[in-house]
Amino acid sequence: MVRKAVFPVAGLGTRFLPATKAMPKEMLALVDKPLIQYTVEEALASGIEVAVFVTGRGKRALEDHFDRSWELEYKLEHSGKEDLLREVRKVSEMIEVIYVRQGMPLGLGHAVLRARNAVGNEPFAVILSDDIVDAETPCLKQLLEVYERFNAPVIALKRVPDEEVSRYGVVQGKLIEDRVFLIEDMVEKPSVDEAPSNYAVIGRYVLTPDVFDKLEKVEPGIGGEIQLTDALREMAKEGPFYGVVFEGEHFDCGNKLGFLKATVHFALKRQEFKMEFLDYLRTLVL
Ligand code: UTP
Repeated sequence: MVRKAVFPVAGLGTRFLPATKAMPKEMLALVDKPLIQYTVEEALASGIEVAVFVTGRGKRALEDHFDRSWELEYKLEHSGKEDLLREVRKVSEMIEVIYVRQGMPLGLGHAVLRARNAVGNEPFAVILSDDIVDAETPCLKQLLEVYERFNAPVIALKRVPDEEVSRYGVVQGKLIEDRVFLIEDMVEKPSVDEAPSNYAVIGRYVLTPDVFDKLEKVEPGIGGEIQLTDALREMAKEGPFYGVVFEGEHFDCGNKLGFLKATVHFALKRQEFKMEFLDYLRTLVL
């Protein structure tokens, strides 16, 4: 049983400066819901019971978001705004959260390693809130279904065009059944010529606790960063290690264009202003 999900949220979010100077990137909202809430909801819908947030300096807004806000609740209650009150309370009761700190943002691998004690000796998920997936079956759930069958680590894959491979970690492996790869190796941000495939790693992972021992041994790279990919490569070499080409629409909200596309996508799903927004978009196209 995978009960815990680690949410590394200690990065500096430099691609969104100045918006992220005093506000966590993960609190940027698509329409009216912060990125982190989309991914926590995905975890819940996938059966996760405990969230481990790896936070850092300037991330207090994240803690407040998942906590009670009694002054706000009092105000909403006394002004008869029942719907909003329910929304606000729902977030604070959503999931049990354990907070650990990453003193310095020394890479994704380092952030995951900080969660070691909170996770303990059990399989766990890692979710990057930059990667938003709108899917009928939650993306993490699709991974967990494969994990349950094979009892080995599983990561999320997306087929990307040649011109995009250099932005991602790309896997080398064999397709063993519909949408499932047995992964042998992976390359971080390869050029088109070096890329072993067009299948890119997206921010959803189901990992076994041996990843922590691997992370302890990873040598820091550029800027002292410890990369999760290095530990995953080790695991893939020892195998078995799987990848799932998930079904659903993915948005890379860690970059501005991806974030804008996601905003339009989720705005068009809102019945209350869908038509008006569509009319507006049409005027732009014309
Ligand atoms: P990114 O690579 O997107 O880095 O991290 P970033 O700092 O958030 O953003 P940019 O590149 O400066 O714009 C992917 C995820 O890993 C977390 C981030 O918070 C993000 O959710 N992360 C990254 C950490 O928790 N710690 C780190 O040291 C690095």
